[in-house]
Amino acid sequence: MKTKERIKSKIDNQKSIGITGTGFYVPEKNLSNFDLEKKIETSDEWIRTRTGIKNRRVASGREATSDLAYKAGKKALSNANLKASEIDLIIVATLSPDMLFPSTACIVQHKLKAKNAVAFDISAACTGFIYGISMAKSLMLTNNYKTALIIGAEVFSRIIDWKDRNTCVLFGDGAGAVVLEKAQNEHNILSTYLGSDGSGAILLNQPAGGSKIPASHESIDKGLHYLKMDGGEVYKLAVEIMVKSVKKVLNQEGLDENDIDILIPHQANIRILKKVAMKLNLPIDNVMMNIDKYGNTSAASIPIALSESVMEKKIKKGDIVVLVAFGAGLTWGASVIRW
Ligand code: UT7
Repeated sequence: MKTKERIKSKIDNQKSIGITGTGFYVPEKNLSNFDLEKKIETSDEWIRTRTGIKNRRVASGREATSDLAYKAGKKALSNANLKASEIDLIIVATLSPDMLFPSTACIVQHKLKAKNAVAFDISAACTGFIYGISMAKSLMLTNNYKTALIIGAEVFSRIIDWKDRNTCVLFGDGAGAVVLEKAQNEHNILSTYLGSDGSGAILLNQPAGGSKIPASHESIDKGLHYLKMDGGEVYKLAVEIMVKSVKKVLNQEGLDENDIDILIPHQANIRILKKVAMKLNLPIDNVMMNIDKYGNTSAASIPIALSESVMEKKIKKGDIVVLVAFGAGLTWGASVIRW
C-alpha cells in the first residue's frame, strides 16, 4: 500500500486530532530595511543577503501581545466555524507576554469571551507553537477536551535593543493561530518530536526582569532587559538540529524526507532554511518562506507561515506537511501533519 494511503487507513481507525481553522494577524506598521538604515549603522544589502529579511511589522503603542493573539485567534475560530464559547482549551506560546503573570492566554480567553476554556502559556521560545500543539493533542486525548485554540504571538519590538544592530534587524511582531478538533479525518497531527537542552540557555535570553535579576535602575542602565543572542553559535546548531528533528518525526510515522510535500520551518534566517532544505534533499519550492515580509516572529512564525500557506492554497488535501523549529532554551521540535 502507498505510504499516504497506509497513513489514511491508520488515522481512520484511531482517535484523531485535526487542524480545522487557521488565522494570523500582523500589525499594520511596516518597518523596512531602508527605514532601519536611517536609525542604525546597517544596510538593506547586509540584512537581505545575511538573513533574507526585507521588512518586518511593528506593533503600535496601543497593541500588546494579547491583542495580536486575540485577532489571530478570532480569525482561526471563524475559519473553523466555531464560537469562542465552544473552545475547551487555549494555549498561547510566547516569550514576550503582556506581563510575567497572569498568563497571556488568560487575557486572550477574556478578550475572546471563551468562558469555557482552560487557558495557559508555554515558554519554549521559537519552538513554542510546536510544543503547544503537542501538549494540546495530549490533553485532548486524556482530558476529553474536544476543541483547542493554539496561538503563537510575539511583540518582540518591546524586548529588543533598537541600538543593537546584531539583533534589532532580525525580529518582527505578529501572531498566528490554529484550531484543533477531535475526531477529524483530515488535517491530522500524526506525530510530534520535541527536545530541550538547558546548557544552551546562555546563547539566547533576556537576562533581567525575572527573579534572578529583578528590574532595577542598574539592570535598565546595563540594558539587561533586552534580548541577547550569540547569533553565530545559534546558527550552527539550528541547521543540524532542525534536520535531525525532521528526520526523527518522519521516522516515528514510518516516513522519510521523500514523503514531504511542504516543509514549514521557523523563519529565523533564509540561509538556515536553504541549508536545511539542501540537507533534506528537498526542492526549495517545497519550503514555505515568508521571512522577507515579517522577519523572525519567534513563536508566531510557524502558525503565520501555515496560515499563509493555507490562504495561498499551497497545501493540498492529503499532503504531508512538516513543521520544524529551533530556539531559545535551547528547544526544538517537529510535527508531521497529513493535510
Ligand atoms: O529564532 C531563534 C533562533 N535564532 C537564529 O536561528 C538566528 C541564528 N543566527 C543568524 O541568523 C546569524 O548568525 C545572524 C543573522 C544573527 C548573523 O549573521 P552572521 O553571518 O553570523 O554574521 P556575524 O554575526 O558573523 O557578523 C558578521 C559581521 C560582523 O562584523 P565584523 O565583526 O565581521 O566586522 C558584524 O558586526 O556583520 C556585522 N553585522 C552587521 N553589519 C551590518 C552584524 N549585524 C549587522 C547589521 N548590519 N545589522
